[in-house]
Amino acid sequence: MHYHAPITEKVFWIGTNDRKTERFENYLPLPQGVAYNSYLINDEKTCIIDTVDFSTAGLFIEKINGILKGKALNYIIVNHMEPDHSGSLGEVMAHFPEAKLIGNVITLKMIKAFIPDFDEAKFICIKEGDKLSLGHHTLTFAMVPMVHWPESMVTYDITDKILFSNDAFGSFGTLDGGIFDDEINFSFYEDEMRRYYSNIVGKYGPQVLNAINKLGGLEIKYICPSHGILWRKDISVVINHFANWASFTPEEEGVVIVYGTLYGTTAKMANVIARELAWNGIKNIKIYDASKTDHSYIISDIWKYKGLIIGSAAHNNDVYPVLQGLLHKLKNYGLKNRYLGIFGNMLWSGGGVRGIQAFADALPGLEVIADAVEAKGEPTPDDQRKLENIAKAMAEKLKSERQ
Ligand code: FEO
Repeated sequence: MHYHAPITEKVFWIGTNDRKTERFENYLPLPQGVAYNSYLINDEKTCIIDTVDFSTAGLFIEKINGILKGKALNYIIVNHMEPDHSGSLGEVMAHFPEAKLIGNVITLKMIKAFIPDFDEAKFICIKEGDKLSLGHHTLTFAMVPMVHWPESMVTYDITDKILFSNDAFGSFGTLDGGIFDDEINFSFYEDEMRRYYSNIVGKYGPQVLNAINKLGGLEIKYICPSHGILWRKDISVVINHFANWASFTPEEEGVVIVYGTLYGTTAKMANVIARELAWNGIKNIKIYDASKTDHSYIISDIWKYKGLIIGSAAHNNDVYPVLQGLLHKLKNYGLKNRYLGIFGNMLWSGGGVRGIQAFADALPGLEVIADAVEAKGEPTPDDQRKLENIAKAMAEKLKSERQ
């Protein structure tokens, strides 16, 4: 017996929880798992909105059968073709061969890329604003390109005012009993939601804001995303979070210090900065060794706090290798609206600090708040004084923004 859950009289959550997969997109750790949300509307015509990852296809089909009880499945709406939502399409089409797939013109190209022998006669191509009547329910569609792929769209149930929002407003973390925002403690999910946002759609802030603006005119009673919590009580909480993250607006005062070190001297420098930050009244300070903590967590905290201080040992005249991946990702995301401090260590001809400076030059939305400090081996008393200056400058900047 596996549960499904009614949202309204004829609309059901039929998602699945994945507690087995180690890494989302094969690189982002999932210690709290992930939910693949799908929805079924059991009207005169029946319809599901997206499917689930292939790994949970068996349970998913059980859930559909549990509601339809032999009734035909008429439509499968494909809001998004990323395999965490489309991986079960083949299985569902095999079980419900009469079902027609609904998507936009880009969706069709992607279906054919994933399912080369797909029969195009099964496809109904819709465009923005088209309507689909299921009997009591009428659905319409809006395009939200790059939230999270080019073909991404959302479906809106005009009858019950439900926005099936696709990856927008989603989160990592399985749904452990409660599925609605008023059934769970949001603080359990908040960090995982930010980690999901910053790592999955962090690059597409403008597109997320466009989508929020476009959907802002709708009367929305329920937000039903493709991952994580369904919203019906405090809808503004999730919309405000996503709007802030998409505009790179920090949540609170604090500093992330992240470093790459071979033998520990760069780590020592990080501790000097952190102590001075605390001495100057900054309470939220997170120090991360880039070699140990998965970068998705570091990125999530960089989204949370306004202060960022990066330190690198020189390695083969460049930035410490593990740190390079993090800097590459932040550059790719166009990180902005952050104060930045820079430090590092060298013995031959440097490269670590130089590399971080080049990173800062490539991101005009970062404000470097003090001269970079580059020690040679053990930080000298003069190095320590300069490191403390970075901390003082950062604390001053942050405190000047206090209300
Ligand atoms: Fe949840 Fe972009 O797929």
